[in-house]
Amino acid sequence: MKQGLLIALEGPDGCGKTTQIQLLDNYFKIKGFDVIKTREPGGTAISEKIRNIILDNNNNEMSDMCEALLYAASRAQLTDEVIKPALNSGKMVICDRFVYSSMVYQGVGRELGMDAIKSINEAALRGLEADIVFMITIPYEQGLERKRNQRELDRLENVGDNFHKKVFEGYSKICEIYDKIIVIDGNRSIEEIHREIITHIEQKIGI
Ligand code: ADP
Ligand code: TYD
Repeated sequence: MKQGLLIALEGPDGCGKTTQIQLLDNYFKIKGFDVIKTREPGGTAISEKIRNIILDNNNNEMSDMCEALLYAASRAQLTDEVIKPALNSGKMVICDRFVYSSMVYQGVGRELGMDAIKSINEAALRGLEADIVFMITIPYEQGLERKRNQRELDRLENVGDNFHKKVFEGYSKICEIYDKIIVIDGNRSIEEIHREIITHIEQKIGI
């Protein structure tokens, strides 16, 4: 059986990843592909427990390295339990965030360094790489405003402006490092963004 594709959506909080993943999931289903969606941190029973620890607003004393390792631990479980088996059985896997989020939020935002975060995650991923990465860009203030209108902000979203500014710069930096990241302007209608994502995917898979 043909190996499936790992498609990751990245970008600041509230840029529209979850919205686009839902549309992409429908698109693949209509086209007759087997598809699964995952989110990070989370996506398995164990990883969702780790997610609750990471995002809990009461856990303000968590050290930056503990945070980075917990994200990697959640990712390791998701990789082994869900992503690798799905790809091996030919499924399309759509990820709401992937290792690039750690490189940006923990590497740049928390100033642990992108290289250190990359190393930790090499242990978690053991060779797994995304085939296509979309980075949806919007000003971080706009994303947080969208989130605020949607629900209560979590621990990471509540860190403060300086952190989110650094995260935003981190996303620009990571786009320069990885050629495979496709930058998508998130300040357009949901439908326009969806069409652009589909165009790239159809080019990649040749349909
Ligand atoms: P993320 O998963 O990146 O945090 P969401 O998909 O949850 O973002 O979107 C955050 C909020 O913004 C939701 O209320 C969603 O309906 C809205 N939204 C998503 N995409 C757009 C868009 N292109 N324009 C305006 N609002 C949007
Ligand atoms: P989530 O609600 O899933 O993201 P979004 O607001 O984009 O829908 O929350 C995940 C939070 O965790 C988000 O603020 C980004 C952060 N994060 C990291 O700091 N490092 C990581 O490796 C990942 C996957 C997420």
